[in-house]
Amino acid sequence: MEQQLSQIKQDAIAAIKAATSLSELSEQRVKYLGKKGSLTAILRGMGKLAPEDRPRVGQLVNDVRKELETSLDDKQAALKANELANRLSTEKIDVTLPGRHHEIGHLHPLTLTLNKIKGIFKSMGYSIAEGPQIETDYFNFEALNLPKDHPARDMQDSFYITEDILMRTQTSPVQARTMQAHDPNSPIRIIAPGRVFRRDDYDATHSPMFTQVEGLCIDKDISFSDLKGTLTSAMRQLFSDDLELRFRPSFFPFTEPSAEVDITCVMCHGKGCRVCKGTGWLEILGSGMVHPHVLEMSGYDPKKVSGFAFGLGVERIAMLSYGIEDLRLFFDNDIRFLKQF
Ligand code: FA5
Ligand code: MG
Repeated sequence: MEQQLSQIKQDAIAAIKAATSLSELSEQRVKYLGKKGSLTAILRGMGKLAPEDRPRVGQLVNDVRKELETSLDDKQAALKANELANRLSTEKIDVTLPGRHHEIGHLHPLTLTLNKIKGIFKSMGYSIAEGPQIETDYFNFEALNLPKDHPARDMQDSFYITEDILMRTQTSPVQARTMQAHDPNSPIRIIAPGRVFRRDDYDATHSPMFTQVEGLCIDKDISFSDLKGTLTSAMRQLFSDDLELRFRPSFFPFTEPSAEVDITCVMCHGKGCRVCKGTGWLEILGSGMVHPHVLEMSGYDPKKVSGFAFGLGVERIAMLSYGIEDLRLFFDNDIRFLKQF
């Protein structure tokens, strides 16, 4: 029996030594020390021994058991350390690598310009109104005093969807939409920014799709001097305090009198250059006093209230503020251009 015991011990130690994984090691633990293990079998067989031999053999079995347990525990610790070292080396993160760079975008120059314009008019008590880009003939033309076959329609050749539906050619339809949605006894102060569409060329100063900001102010006793004061203040905030404005008589069917507004050329400060074609002035918007007929058509009484309206081209203003000579740059989406703002 003693010999059997020393054989078991030898085998077990060798097996433990050879184990290469924790699961293999736990198999060995069961094989030798488990309920059906070989060492347990020896303990069970002690009954067959002479009584005087039992204590000695019992002691021996216990010694072997302790020895095996120690050796199993040591091996287990070694395997665990090994496994950890393995994971550490394979799952290693190089914290010195540079981080992944996320490009942060920014607003388009037209959006920047629009935001500036909105901010200026908001500070003067205007709110923002919106209208659809696909508009009815009624709001785009008729409600603005441009009946069918009116010759002034030719100035804004459009993209028609049906006889009565078109891509809006101006933001002015928002004037009529706002008036008709509004109580005629309370004042209006709105601006309406948005895209407009015309069958126009695509060149350095024109695009078939461009951006306008409409303005509408209606109240008791609104006069042309309110129009001049408002636009002068707004344009000076937009460009510079010493900016001069020139109001040139003009024609729009929905305003009377009408004026086109020029500013002193921001490139040459009025001296005359290529951009202003030597005149020292640049046209930036159309404006006028709301035509009595337009007020009436939308439910307002021209004897009680009056108003002014204006429409400015945002691309034109952005070109002047940033010194850009070709309008098409706004729509080309060339990253080298867009990065500069
Ligand atoms: C109008 O569209 C009128 N609705 C403006 C108005 C509103 C007058 C309220 C009176 C009262 P006009 O067609 O001139 O007017 O256009 C206004 C501005 O839009 C122009 O001064 C110009 O800056 C810009 N614009 C016109 N056509 C183009 C185009 N094809 N590309 C880029 N900008 C344009
Ligand atoms: Mg014009």
